[in-house]
Amino acid sequence: MKFISKNLATGVFSLAALIAQAQQKQADIDKKVEALISKMTIEEKVGQMAQVTLDVIGKGGNRYAAAQPFQLDPAKMNDLFAKYHIGSVLNTSANTALTTKRWYEVISEIQKTSLKTDRNKIPVLYGVDEIHGATYTDGATMFPQQIAQGAARNPKYTELGAAITAYETRASNIPWTFSPVLDLGLDPRFSRMWESFGEDPYLCSVLGAAIIDGYEGKDNNIADPYKIASCMKHFLGYHATISGKDRTPSYISIDALREYHLPSFKAAIDAGSHTIMINSGIINGVPVHANYDILTKLLKEELGFKGLVVTDWADIENLHRRDRVAATDKEAIMLAINAGIDMSMIPYNYEVFCDNLTALVKEGKVTEERINDAVRRILKVKYALNLFEKPNTHYKDYPKFGSKEHEKAAYDMAAEAITLLKNEGNVLPLKKTTKVLVTGPNANSMRTLNGAWTYSWQGDRVELHAAKYNTILEAVQNEIGKQNVTYVPGVSYKMDGHYYDEYADKMDEAVAAAKNADVVLLCLGENSYTEKPGDMNDLYMSDLQTELAQKIAATGKTVILILNEGRPRVISKFEQQMKGIVQTYLPGNFGGDALADVLFGDVNPSGKLPYTYPRYPNATIGYIHKPSEEQKKAEGVYNYEADYNPQYLFGHGLSYTTFEYKDLKLDKNAIKKGENIQVSVTVTNTGKVTGKEVVHLFTSDLYASSVTPDVKRLRRFEKIELKPGESKTVSFTLNPADLSYIGRNGETLLEAGDFEIAIDKLKAQFSMTE
Ligand code: BGC
Repeated sequence: MKFISKNLATGVFSLAALIAQAQQKQADIDKKVEALISKMTIEEKVGQMAQVTLDVIGKGGNRYAAAQPFQLDPAKMNDLFAKYHIGSVLNTSANTALTTKRWYEVISEIQKTSLKTDRNKIPVLYGVDEIHGATYTDGATMFPQQIAQGAARNPKYTELGAAITAYETRASNIPWTFSPVLDLGLDPRFSRMWESFGEDPYLCSVLGAAIIDGYEGKDNNIADPYKIASCMKHFLGYHATISGKDRTPSYISIDALREYHLPSFKAAIDAGSHTIMINSGIINGVPVHANYDILTKLLKEELGFKGLVVTDWADIENLHRRDRVAATDKEAIMLAINAGIDMSMIPYNYEVFCDNLTALVKEGKVTEERINDAVRRILKVKYALNLFEKPNTHYKDYPKFGSKEHEKAAYDMAAEAITLLKNEGNVLPLKKTTKVLVTGPNANSMRTLNGAWTYSWQGDRVELHAAKYNTILEAVQNEIGKQNVTYVPGVSYKMDGHYYDEYADKMDEAVAAAKNADVVLLCLGENSYTEKPGDMNDLYMSDLQTELAQKIAATGKTVILILNEGRPRVISKFEQQMKGIVQTYLPGNFGGDALADVLFGDVNPSGKLPYTYPRYPNATIGYIHKPSEEQKKAEGVYNYEADYNPQYLFGHGLSYTTFEYKDLKLDKNAIKKGENIQVSVTVTNTGKVTGKEVVHLFTSDLYASSVTPDVKRLRRFEKIELKPGESKTVSFTLNPADLSYIGRNGETLLEAGDFEIAIDKLKAQFSMTE
């Protein structure tokens, strides 16, 4: 339908012709898929449902770690394809980033072998986590991570970044990415918060749809050699663990699951994403990989998802080995496939999966109909990607790989993401004649600017590939000249340790150097991490970095805190002494340049927090919360710590100019159920420089009968640019879906009553009647 509406808008084709064309295309694919399925054996079908990691077919070593440099092993490939008919391969080997040429050699050799040995001539579906650029390709353009894109609040940039990532992924002969993350980044303790667009379901929905448009194209024509299949993940509720640690249990009520965690996936399914990956965790005691209600009833039946459902890493064997809901591997396979899994990211022991699943079909414990459904979904993706006709894409056809044009898009996105959290006395921007001390463990690191999933899983090899880009220190030196910059680390990360291993690195010297500087740029944050290695016990900024901050602040110098972190580490032990605070998130290879431009006034910051920045580790409630979180001291019995008082609110972000909001207008004071309401507001740039502002519209349902209403919810946003003195009127239309909520039994409710609209500090009310 998206294809149809887009082309209709151009007025070139008639509706009937477009519908017929789209239907014909799908009918042709369906016919080919059915013809293929009808001649496949059970073993061949089961093989299509299996995915292994690249190491499994590497020479030497073992299947968990092939010898390096990586070479394909013909004998292992023969077993994989001729004997087991394996349909999909993922990942790189030994965490190594390859050149586009090497990727071409490896994957085209895999395709050649599989097409030669498989009597059905089915190409392999190769998938890689290309999450902020072509992750494992040397020279690829690395964009800000999703959390920074959430701060940029610019769907056009997100779409463009994904389109460039798709191009560079195809340049690497890879047609499938395990991206985007559509989980809510709602827990600052969680090691993958930064892989999300932030804590808000609407923000994640808008940017999620934009990123899918970028990867797949607005018409989802992934046969286009510049487009790739996207993979929504991790369906669903993955980040909402009780402990804050990766892959630990969540308890999520049916209303919360649907109200908060579902919308971003629904929007992405509507945007046409071809594949989806399942939450590796456990909700209400049930591992999601074994949950028929979630995988089949909700995803495939209710949401009508027609694409491919893939497991996360080893998650079928986890049902047996980790979660103990199956006494054997075989039983785990039965549970997962019957729950609705189409493809297993095995990723090592494919014999266990294939032999057991074949036996289960023969024993009637998994129906052939279920297998056919899974294989149908997989083959449709392979056809949609045009892999049968063109199994490879050649790097020579991608001259714009790693080009200046692509780099500029990454820079632009970083420049819009960087968020000015504090600017006491307008200390920023700094004059270019300022003498600065640059200090802190994040000052001279490309690794920390990029985060994990950059040239390797944990990001530990970034420095090997990203030396030509500028760290914060280098970018500041370029901006104001080396003569104005002193650098002393103060604290450094251990190169080979756990991500939080740190050591004092000339801390006294840093403090002494601060005394000779006009301004200190204190670059604190985290080293790169993801998944279990990023689990954490203490949300405060590390002890050593806190000590450095406090000692530097004690010199009395003007200190600008530069944050470079995947999640908001608590800074309240020294925040008050910082004159300026700039959040960079994980801004990618051009984050240093963009930051320097912000610090010295070449770029006016416009990023807005995509999450709530907590003030204390025990106060991590986000902006979406119930009224009882706000029982203020004025109400009597409670002490100060009962208040809702984060360090910085969701949506916070300053500018070098000022914006005035006025004339908040609703087109009606009362509507009937089912009607829309129009909202407008006028924003004026009242300062001296051009600036971009994100206009956020929040609604509050004042009373709700089934579950306690949230204090407020984001329903619309728009980023606008205003010259000094310029005004713009921004209009939004709210529809019944924006005013409804999910009740205690999971049902959608639209209730008569009063609502409040809030834009900036302006508020207006309206009522809805039966
Ligand atoms: C992660 C996924 C990722 C997969 C493949 C898993 O460990 O949870 O997000 O797509 O590995 O690399």
